[in-house]
Amino acid sequence: MCGIFGYVNYLVERDRKYIINTLLTGLSRLEYRGYDSAGIACDVGKVSALRAKIEAVPNLDNSKVFVAHGGIAHTRWATHGAPSEKNSHPHRSDPTAEFTVVHNGIINNYKELRQVLEKFGYVFESDTDTECVAKLAKYIYDTQKQATGASMSFTALVKAVCKELNGAFALLFKSVHFPNEIVAARRGSPLLIGVKSSKNLKVDFVEVGQETPEKEDNNQFLGVDKPTIRRTQSRSFVGDDGVVAPIEYILASDASAIIEHTKRVIMLEDDDVAHIAEGDLHIHRLRRDDKMSSVRPIETLASELAQIQKGKFAHFMSKEIFDQTESVVNTMRGRLNADNYSVVLGGLRSQLANIRRSRRIIFSACGTSFHSCLAVKSIFAELCEMPISVELSSSFLDEQLPVFRDDVCVFLSQSGETKDTLMALQYCKERGALCLGVTNVVGSSISRETHCGVHINAGPELSVASTKAYTSQFIALTLIALQLSQDSLRTKARREEIIDGLARLSDDIKKTLALEPELKRLAVEKYKDCKNLIILGRGYQSATCLEGALKVKEVTYIHAEGILAGELKHGPLALIDETMPMILLMPKDRHYDDTENALKQVTTRGGRPLVIISENDNSPVFKDLNTIRVPQTVDALQAIINIIPLQLFSYHLAVARGIDPDYPRGLAKSVTVA
Ligand code: F6R
Repeated sequence: MCGIFGYVNYLVERDRKYIINTLLTGLSRLEYRGYDSAGIACDVGKVSALRAKIEAVPNLDNSKVFVAHGGIAHTRWATHGAPSEKNSHPHRSDPTAEFTVVHNGIINNYKELRQVLEKFGYVFESDTDTECVAKLAKYIYDTQKQATGASMSFTALVKAVCKELNGAFALLFKSVHFPNEIVAARRGSPLLIGVKSSKNLKVDFVEVGQETPEKEDNNQFLGVDKPTIRRTQSRSFVGDDGVVAPIEYILASDASAIIEHTKRVIMLEDDDVAHIAEGDLHIHRLRRDDKMSSVRPIETLASELAQIQKGKFAHFMSKEIFDQTESVVNTMRGRLNADNYSVVLGGLRSQLANIRRSRRIIFSACGTSFHSCLAVKSIFAELCEMPISVELSSSFLDEQLPVFRDDVCVFLSQSGETKDTLMALQYCKERGALCLGVTNVVGSSISRETHCGVHINAGPELSVASTKAYTSQFIALTLIALQLSQDSLRTKARREEIIDGLARLSDDIKKTLALEPELKRLAVEKYKDCKNLIILGRGYQSATCLEGALKVKEVTYIHAEGILAGELKHGPLALIDETMPMILLMPKDRHYDDTENALKQVTTRGGRPLVIISENDNSPVFKDLNTIRVPQTVDALQAIINIIPLQLFSYHLAVARGIDPDYPRGLAKSVTVA
């Protein structure tokens, strides 16, 4: 959670307004990661409010030109300390701000550090865990100077600070002692560096500086010793003419804030410390790790800025719902051949035999990603004939689930950064299981930490409420099941039926999206003021009920519950009367008769659900009810179609209730804390 952003230029003339604008635009791209407050120096509110405040500063236009300049910025999802001006980042070491810091992550030992620093006379201004980082930097810098008479280098200082920190962090530091420089450090939270130059750069990687063993500093500063850090490696970027290139560095929590500047990025690894000064980039390690590559390549991002902008849509959520006609195709592109019914997932090739040999598959994820696992559970069981379990990552460790070497564990995550899912992954890796990642974000922690995997290729998803990632996850998992069962004669006909359904999916989604006006009308006219909502269904629609209810909850703040129709008579029926708002999912599949029984149980008690049915269903049971008729597809894929009216319904309900669906209160897109 939280987004951090930094900018440094060298030999590129930029005026102050440009730099401030770059920082603010970077923040607005990252706002989906947290929007409780935002700051460049010290401010509060959404990024737009910060921009208005900065624009009101007199003389901003007196365009002083900087040839080397850096800035750091932050948009916040509050964990420690309420959203308020005093808690917004950057945090400072002291009133003159000798050191300023922005942070994404959580410092677990901040209370202990704060206590020690308070004893040394530091006065804290905020309730955050981050402030102790800035103050610790000043404490170490001053103490070292007093002891030796010499100042530490910026990198040595940040390394010494990081060695005291316990928890997860992506940090950017600035200091008046090191003007126009930035030091970045990461452990457990993502951090990328964009490299932009007007020249073609001759080099496309940065080598990591290793500490010489005898100089390596393992002692913690507060505990015992002073740090003795040496850097050995740096990278000056030269152009193809051999001359040092004018360069701009853009540092950010994710690629969406970098892509408009450059597609060329370096993904920092855990325990990397990057120092940018005078156009040079140095990458160091917080600790030796001989297994870790000593090269950080400059990679090329595939996304386009257009993909992450709203275009004609009022909100990212509606754009992403409408993206689904294309995103589902992108998930299948180059992998599914509907002509010869084959599926090839390159990312699994090396492990296919091992996966097929395994004795069970465990899926693990959180939130919407968890629902997509539930949604495909029966397809996997049917095609792969293996025991399947689906576990919430957030309770995986609580339950200490038994995991064995011959298990395959599949971790689903749109962002690839969800802390709970990463912890479950670590747990399964330690037990020797084969770990597979299914993520949307290329280069994300989960895609790098797993043994093999599949990217869902849905394109950037910025709305906090996940929509297109859900349908793409569903498809990516279905492709895995199809590939695993490719050699089975028994399931051949079923596989072909599913593949035919996948090939028609984009058209079916297009027809479903055309139902928007009717869903909007119902949301505005009938459901806008409701306090509760039950979403009912069974069989292939079980996960749809849960996912639909999650969408309603998070963007409308209405209490919504997904209830499996088979469970109705075991308790929830007591809730039903003529006042209880309800949606029932009743596609034409083998559960139709049972679902009709549930409908009768409800209508007998005065309930009048909105029913989502197949377009060709003319049953008289719906006579007095509102219905939404959706295209009928293969039973096992129907959930992909049926979630779309629920996504549209939630979206319009949110807008009708005056809620910005892209920024629901208290949430963030990427949950990088456990
Ligand atoms: C709901 C939603 C969340 C996420 C969950 C996991 O709309 O977006 O429930 O699905 O936080 O996130 P990822 O998929 O990034 O691991």
